[in-house]
Amino acid sequence: MVSVTEIVPPLVEALSGRRPSLLPVWFMRQAGRSLPEYRTTRAGVGMLESCLNPELAAEITLQPVRRHQVDAAIFFSDIMVPLRLAGVGVDIAPGVGPVLDDPVKSPADVRDLVAHDLGDTSMIRDAIRLITAELASTPSGDASWTPVIGFAGAPFTLAAYLVEGRPSRDHLAARALMHSHPTSWDALMSWCARISGQFLAAQVDAGVSAVQLFDSWAGSLREDDYVAHVAPYSRAVLDAVPGVPKIHFGTGTGHLLPAMRDAGADVVGVDYRTPLDEANTILGGRTPLQGNIDPAMLAAGWKPLTRHARDVVQRGYAAPGHVVNLGHGVPPTTDPDVLTRLVEFVHGLPATA
Ligand code: CP3
Repeated sequence: MVSVTEIVPPLVEALSGRRPSLLPVWFMRQAGRSLPEYRTTRAGVGMLESCLNPELAAEITLQPVRRHQVDAAIFFSDIMVPLRLAGVGVDIAPGVGPVLDDPVKSPADVRDLVAHDLGDTSMIRDAIRLITAELASTPSGDASWTPVIGFAGAPFTLAAYLVEGRPSRDHLAARALMHSHPTSWDALMSWCARISGQFLAAQVDAGVSAVQLFDSWAGSLREDDYVAHVAPYSRAVLDAVPGVPKIHFGTGTGHLLPAMRDAGADVVGVDYRTPLDEANTILGGRTPLQGNIDPAMLAAGWKPLTRHARDVVQRGYAAPGHVVNLGHGVPPTTDPDVLTRLVEFVHGLPATA
């Protein structure tokens, strides 16, 4: 007898460079403030606290799957969760983002930081198990189950927060440190790679079907800096998770796509600035792509949105596999019904040219 888990869902097919009969679609930040049920579940609970509560994290992860019939769940967590688990003073300030109690300013601060270990990840594993149990009976396409995607922050994006102490535009302090104190930079990036790698490995161990590494701020880097001072550490994270497809995503990274693939990714996530046919050419036509509907189009009206989504899908036909997604996260102001209709629309488009 074929067990249900042997039937490969469309998401995993596409991530493996094949063309399933259904175009798989999910949205970065599909769980979050755009959903009224999320706002209700989160009421009075801090962001990181909700990530560390397995029942809450599982419930929030499942909300967009139930509502939109997307082809994947993305684990509700945050790239800052491993820092909190490691005992680093970090919080997520509403409307601001991650804020560090004590930003890393000196080589001595780096030495203090890297003495921290990841610690207990049981709540992460418990949450994933609750999620996969429910998704085992939630169909996607022909498959009788929907996969869950795990994720972590890439070392550079984590280091940028650790050094800057809060969201910044150009990540100047982080980019200066890599050249002013190369030994400290190596220690800091190696530590970020270790805890992100362990955070991802815990998710894979508990049953996620794919992972995504978010290097949201890599776009601020020149290619030579990325290749020499960042990519080796991202590779260490990706190498720590064998056995599942790996997606590598950043914003403003049109100039870094081959380097991000060559860091050990199976699939490249493309932000909304680079058309997918161009991305495919840059990558030599051999890498499955994820993306890249412009999040701004979600609020542009149905006609312009569907014209744009159709164009994204058509450009994506050039690639060996395509997972439809946004070019960055769902804006909190998005009308959730637009997302539900967009999933239906994408599912109605031909899966191949
Ligand atoms: O649905 C999903 O995509 C899964 C959950 C997810 C969250 N954060 C939940 C979240 C994922 C994949 C992330 C990744 C993340 N976190 C990244 C990389 C992706 C990206 O957006 O570039 C980054 C840079 C962070 C750090 C972070 N956490 C930021 C910048 C913010 C936004 C601050 C704000 O209020 O706008 C957060 C908070 C956060 N993470 C929210 C969610 C749903 C909003 C929390 C809330 O409800 O107020």
